[in-house]
Amino acid sequence: MNNCYLTFALGKGRLANRTMELFEEIGITCEEMKDKNTRKLIFVNEELKLKFFLSKGPDVPTYVEYGAADIGVVGRDTILEENRNVYEVLDLKYGACRMCVCGPKEASELLKHHERIRVASKYPNIAKDYFYNRKHQTVDIIKLNGSVELGPIVGLSDVIVDIVETGSTLRENGLDVLEEVCPLSARMIVNPVSMQLESERIMSIVKKLKEHI
Ligand code: PRP
Repeated sequence: MNNCYLTFALGKGRLANRTMELFEEIGITCEEMKDKNTRKLIFVNEELKLKFFLSKGPDVPTYVEYGAADIGVVGRDTILEENRNVYEVLDLKYGACRMCVCGPKEASELLKHHERIRVASKYPNIAKDYFYNRKHQTVDIIKLNGSVELGPIVGLSDVIVDIVETGSTLRENGLDVLEEVCPLSARMIVNPVSMQLESERIMSIVKKLKEHI
């Protein structure tokens, strides 16, 4: 946090690019950030007193909770998984997809009968919350770091909890959506103290974005 600068943490990659495009449309720009070859980690717009940095998605809520960034933009999947003390203030609508329980068709029987199954996921907290608190089903959760669809294919798990966007990864690997956990999209989050101290500046950005979306 800073007295004069508002600092933004953005999840690296497509999400950050889309976010900067959107910001540009409402007059929030950062020329420094457009240089694709730069190794710089933090970018400043001196005129508007704004700072931007890119981080790994799961680190965005951490920077915002501790106040190292006032505002963050990250997927709802990451917000739910990290479960940090931040305010979610706006649905930016892009990056829309779904968190789902997926697996081979036959596995839907295991979901109906509350069997103790194995669930692989990059999102162990979301998976745990879904099975324990919503379905009241005791399961074994196995954390993976990517290519989660391999789980049921190679016999590591019965099902997976993962993001489905177009559905083509599932289709190409003979898996189906068995249950939907929740819808996802990019969200803006704010540090609770910044929200008090900088509410005017922050809410004016939120308002502009809301009107634009
Ligand atoms: C994500 C997700 C699925 C896939 C879904 O993975 O985990 O695997 O995209 O998209 P689709 O429904 O359009 O096929 P990502 O590509 O981010 O890589 P990862 O498997 O390493 O997490």
